[in-house]
Amino acid sequence: MSPRPDAPFKDDLKLSLQRAFDMLARGAKNRRSPFHTPVFATQGGQFGVDARTVVLREFVADRRRLRFHTDTRTQKCAHVTDKSNGLFVFYDPGARIQLRAYGPCSLHMDDQVADDAWAQSQHFSRRCYMAPEGPGSLATGPTSGLPEAVEGRVPTEEETLAGRPHFSVMLTTITSLDWLFLAHDGHRRARFSWDQEGDGTGSCRKEWLIP
Ligand SMILES: Cc1cc2nc3c(=O)[nH]c(=O)nc-3n(C[C@H](O)[C@H](O)[C@H](O)COP(=O)(O)O)c2cc1C
Repeated sequence: MSPRPDAPFKDDLKLSLQRAFDMLARGAKNRRSPFHTPVFATQGGQFGVDARTVVLREFVADRRRLRFHTDTRTQKCAHVTDKSNGLFVFYDPGARIQLRAYGPCSLHMDDQVADDAWAQSQHFSRRCYMAPEGPGSLATGPTSGLPEAVEGRVPTEEETLAGRPHFSVMLTTITSLDWLFLAHDGHRRARFSWDQEGDGTGSCRKEWLIP
């Protein structure tokens, strides 16, 4: 049977992986892509597990690395101890593709990674880190938590510096990728895994799974 014109990757593991990587790359660059806002899950906290939406800032294909920015005071940062695993869940309803990306995470608060990301960030984005009390702290009433002086406007460069101690970068190296493609004539599921955690794509094990 010849491959469907709209899904040439359907019965091809290599093309499915390529498609997954393309979608991650597009998700990081294109704000309208459903892959721009994955759910990031961690172990820990009151219920032993938690998950939340984040903005995918970068995908470096040859390192299999995902990046998002966060407030150092959030729960997810407490959950991520050295190299503990995180999980990203992506779903694109138009493409009917779900990806689950697992891998060790590292939090960068006070190093070159964080400094570079901070230097490239917009003043408006930096404003999120200016709240004196951390995200999730109890409030006495409805509030943005921001200092009144910057409420409703973009802060100046100097004003944003108050947020720098709270800004951090989360990096995750994908070591396992679960691919699910929904199709009327039969779904397809695959797993891609890498032994090598560090730089480089390493050798990838590619396996079909029952969806
Ligand atoms: C569309 C959207 C995008 C978000 N992006 C981020 C983000 O990039 N980083 C982040 O830390 N929180 C982001 N949040 C807020 C988180 O979902 C979450 O509420 C917050 O980080 C606290 O999570 P935690 O206490 O579980 O760590 C976003 C929320 C939404 C709805």
